[in-house]
Amino acid sequence: MSKNASIFICQSCAYESPRWAGKCPNCGTWNSFVEEAAPRSRAAPRRPGLEGRGAIPLRDIAAEGEHRIETGCAEFDRVLGGGIVAGSVILLGGDPGIGKSTLMMQLAARLGERRVLYISGEESPSQIKLRSARLGGHSGESFLLLGETDTGVISGLIERDPPEIIIVDSVQTMVNPGLEAIPGSITQVREATALFTKFAKERSIPVLLIGHVTKDGFIAGPKVVEHMVDAVLQFEGERHHAYRILRAMKNRFGSTNEIGVFEMLDSGLREVANPSEVFLSQRSPGASGSTVAATLEGTRPLLVEVQALVTSAGGGVPERNTTGVDYRRLALLLAVLEKRLGMPLARNDVFVNIAGGISIDEPAVDLGIALSIISSARDRAVDAGTVAVGEVGLTGEVRTVSQIEKRLQEAAKLGFTRVLVPEGNMKGLRDRKGVEVIGVGRIDEAVERTFGEDKRR
Ligand code: TYD
Ligand code: MG
Repeated sequence: MSKNASIFICQSCAYESPRWAGKCPNCGTWNSFVEEAAPRSRAAPRRPGLEGRGAIPLRDIAAEGEHRIETGCAEFDRVLGGGIVAGSVILLGGDPGIGKSTLMMQLAARLGERRVLYISGEESPSQIKLRSARLGGHSGESFLLLGETDTGVISGLIERDPPEIIIVDSVQTMVNPGLEAIPGSITQVREATALFTKFAKERSIPVLLIGHVTKDGFIAGPKVVEHMVDAVLQFEGERHHAYRILRAMKNRFGSTNEIGVFEMLDSGLREVANPSEVFLSQRSPGASGSTVAATLEGTRPLLVEVQALVTSAGGGVPERNTTGVDYRRLALLLAVLEKRLGMPLARNDVFVNIAGGISIDEPAVDLGIALSIISSARDRAVDAGTVAVGEVGLTGEVRTVSQIEKRLQEAAKLGFTRVLVPEGNMKGLRDRKGVEVIGVGRIDEAVERTFGEDKRR
């Protein structure tokens, strides 16, 4: 065997270089190169099972509907677009300790009679048994546990006795001892992903791969693993909050808009079917700096509490800080408030937070953020029965949002009586869902309708 030379792989884009470089020449990321022993065969991983067939005219291909397995966990199924597609490979990423193993264990239990093979390289079977018991476990014969990391051994076992679903916890612990690369290295992770992809495609066995996100935020090392799988799900949440959000970052069989909401309890993860209620549960009505905004996550409306705190920077460099919304969004809104409403915020620290640890990237929360900032700056509370919806543009205009009736409905359902909506949404509005709907064309109008006449103070 010839001694392998080292190569350097960019953790961000999987670009390979014969020598180390501070900045990746392909994607421009700094300090992203890691050294690895060059594998003997550098052939790119192929999608197995697709070779040697020859091209066929599109019209001759039978359009088979995808066969989906419903797991019985509605939040999980929703994120995937209606269950697990047969033969698909799903990567579940998230920080260590966020609850990935717990989620997979509970899913396995939900799958009941289906033969699930849970391969764990992280915990011993007895540890898993203990956890399973705590989760009100699955004791049937169909739940098979394998404490193994050697992909050769695992392949043999699957060949001999193929399960119906494979769960790998985690892909970073899987090793092919024939490769020189260490466990968790890009080469090993890529190799293991390719192997499980082969089982998935050839035998139509769905595979769920757990992958830890590294400090830098990459799932299972390089992006190349994300490209190899059919769906990438991200399990996220603040460590000190009980709520966990499952999102699809990539989904070949459905949209990437849907979220699943869970709560981590002592007895495991609980599905949260009515997230708005949960995210608003700790609101203190009457406090300044708090507004309820109606956003849309996929097809589901979600009411969240937008909190803002505006304080004097005391002569120091003003600080701006966000949790749950994009920092640049805050910068833009502050500029709009300063320019369009004449609000002097340059000497203030401004903090914005979405309560409950959820992140919102829909611009429809803009109006809620703006009103919370104004509310905190003036120390005047926004009426507790009011919801705000609207994107705020650079000229201070409140821009139309999609699916206004769904948002109104959610507001009505949770007992809100008044909703500020973009003026542009008023035209097509047929059903007001029993709430008072107020159209606002500009941010100053919204301020007036929220705080009364003193719009410039
Ligand atoms: P785990 O599923 O092991 O996380 P991951 O696989 O993503 O690393 O979850 C670990 C955390 O979840 C741990 O800190 C304890 C907590 N937890 C609960 O609060 N309740 C439970 O029922 C379980 C099983 C875990
Ligand atoms: Mg785990």
